[in-house]
Amino acid sequence: MIYETKVLPYDGKSAALAAEFLKRGELVAIPTETVYGLAANALNENAVRNIFAAKGRPQDNPLIVHISSIKMLPPLVKEIPETARRLAERFWGGPLTMIFPKSDNVPDVTSGGLDTVAVRMPSNKAAAEIIKKCGFPLAAPSANLSGKPSPTTAARVFEDMNGRIPLIIDGGECEVGVESTVICFKDNKIHILRPGGITAEMLSEFGETEVDRAVVEGLRGGEKALSPGMKYKHYSPAADVYIINAHGEKFRKYCSRRIKTENGVLALGAGVAEADGFLDYGKTSELQAKRLFELLRTADELGAKTVLVEIPEKTGVGLAVYNRLLRAAAFRTIEVE
Ligand code: TXA
Ligand code: MG
Repeated sequence: MIYETKVLPYDGKSAALAAEFLKRGELVAIPTETVYGLAANALNENAVRNIFAAKGRPQDNPLIVHISSIKMLPPLVKEIPETARRLAERFWGGPLTMIFPKSDNVPDVTSGGLDTVAVRMPSNKAAAEIIKKCGFPLAAPSANLSGKPSPTTAARVFEDMNGRIPLIIDGGECEVGVESTVICFKDNKIHILRPGGITAEMLSEFGETEVDRAVVEGLRGGEKALSPGMKYKHYSPAADVYIINAHGEKFRKYCSRRIKTENGVLALGAGVAEADGFLDYGKTSELQAKRLFELLRTADELGAKTVLVEIPEKTGVGLAVYNRLLRAAAFRTIEVE
């Protein structure tokens, strides 16, 4: 099916239209505070199958189920650990996804065949209103073609989804810019599978918190991913991305030399002046999270062959930036002497 994709600014009317499409089992791209999501009725198998088709996503990669009120959680899960209750109270709506044992209401396609389900309650007003109007939870992966950087504006969604879905709701630029933190509860600990806007530091106030090895190391051959999404190539622009382990003058000098002597080299620096092949990806981790995916797509538009990115901080939201960047760079890091 080929659609004439409409992009409508978010208001009461477009939210109602979005809900109408979703009730009919169609796909709608919606804004969230993290990245744009490609939404369908999480309880409608056929609708969910269409998400995988539209994205070109592997079938065994489970989706996050989005709710608009805590009352929507119990029917989706078999049990709610006490820590999850406390975390929901503190961080929902917001960029935190929690993994629960799934109930039979959740179709296997939604959970990628797993016996668990990932649930989050977005804080974004448009997302919350659309879910509420639907009255059912929405399965929504990031609204990019599988493998590409996640979209943080409606225009980027349109680039990937034009003709594949009937409607995109434009809620402006996403606040956080990287996908939600994904956690599960393992050996009585809060176990971070994917870092995001709710940081390890914030979670550790609610219980012992650990970061999955695969967040910064990648899987070894034959190892099973706790979160299937972590095994796929991700967030990749067409250009080759490299992480540069240097800051300030050292970073600028190294990149300048390569920009001058090679074709198609771009450098993303933290708080650099935007000239001569340098783009600023922000001084703080928060800014870097907000800009990273957009800049990777910009690099492609500028025809870059090589993108050199200053290594981010590994604390706070910086860990999420580093995690996404490692995947965009296929773990290539250059040490600068
Ligand atoms: O911020 C976000 O979470 C965005 C917005 C749209 O809400 N959504 C998003 O979805 O990033 P997606 O599908 O691109 O990423 C979902 C991640 C994948 O890495 C997937 O493997 C993991 O969550 N995941 C989903 N269900 C899981 C489960 N039951 N167990 C372990 N990992 C799960
Ligand atoms: Mg994604």
